[in-house]
Amino acid sequence: MLIETIKWVGDVSGHVELIDQTLLPNEFRMLAVEDVEAIWRAIKTLQVRGAPAIGIAAAYGAVLGVRPIADNASLNEAKEKLKKTCDYLATSRPTAVNLFWALERMQRAADDNNVQSVIELKQRLLIEARAVRDEDAAMCRAIGKNGADFIKDGDSVLTHCNAGGLATAGYGTALAVMFVACEQGRKFCVYADETRPLLQGARLTTWELMQAGIDVTLICDNMAGHLMSLGKIDLVITGADRIAANGDAANKIGTYSLAVLASAHNIPFYIAAPSSTFDMSIADGTQITIEQRAAEEVTESFGRRIAPEDVKVCNPAFDVTPHKYITALITERGIIPKPNRENISRRLI
Ligand code: MRU
Repeated sequence: MLIETIKWVGDVSGHVELIDQTLLPNEFRMLAVEDVEAIWRAIKTLQVRGAPAIGIAAAYGAVLGVRPIADNASLNEAKEKLKKTCDYLATSRPTAVNLFWALERMQRAADDNNVQSVIELKQRLLIEARAVRDEDAAMCRAIGKNGADFIKDGDSVLTHCNAGGLATAGYGTALAVMFVACEQGRKFCVYADETRPLLQGARLTTWELMQAGIDVTLICDNMAGHLMSLGKIDLVITGADRIAANGDAANKIGTYSLAVLASAHNIPFYIAAPSSTFDMSIADGTQITIEQRAAEEVTESFGRRIAPEDVKVCNPAFDVTPHKYITALITERGIIPKPNRENISRRLI
């Protein structure tokens, strides 16, 4: 089943529709998003989430930003509005580079020489946003095909957070590898970390894998090391939010601990990500901004207080896995074994 996480409905005067991921798995509801503030909120509150999906949402958000400008207004006014919209959307979440990559792409599209009027600008932006979406879908398929052979018959795969269809334009990155291995007839099982504090693994990854008919077992994050010590995990595959030029990769908090554990147990650790998740402008992972989120995400569990009032809280949403712990990167352009600056630039530039 292909999930349509986010789409643009109609022509340039249309709007965005997205699956409200905060409600899953209990409720499947499409959210109509009509303005830039609402798309900013949807990104911030994780109604739409996962690096590629955030990029697509931002691209559609840029279209929404320019939509209210009158067709007979000046092109400069509309471009100014686009710039302000992109600057605003860039403040929604700091870590996933796909957000900034998509916004830069939208601004470059506006400078297309064929754009001579406001209506042409609106049309060009919608074409570009749809291309961001369509290209992501194609990249995900290719990632799945390139990585599927890493999963052998009888394997147990561990994954963290959600890098599935919900996090992309439809097929996922880490989960794409599993979907394709399953399509190719391989029998394997998956352990999904629940992924505290917002439970993307428990709520979203299990939901997606179960719908695909893949054998999945939910575990709490702190159970992974124990399972590895018992020989129950053959490989780990996760997604990424930003990969530096040397291969250091930011992903959901807890990924780094998994990579160290995997290394200690001689278990291969793979990261699956499209080229839009690489940030070749930064040398290493120390330059990745880690999003800090609200204390309530840790002190409350779905509306119920679970810690003393006024307790001090630390809530980084991501961590960085040093490249030395990554066995290979799985991209749409092929496999990058032992990622480092040289191997990555050879494959991606
Ligand atoms: O905070 P989230 O849910 O947006 O975090 C998502 C992740 O960390 C994913 O693993 C990553 O974005 C890759 S999605 C293909």
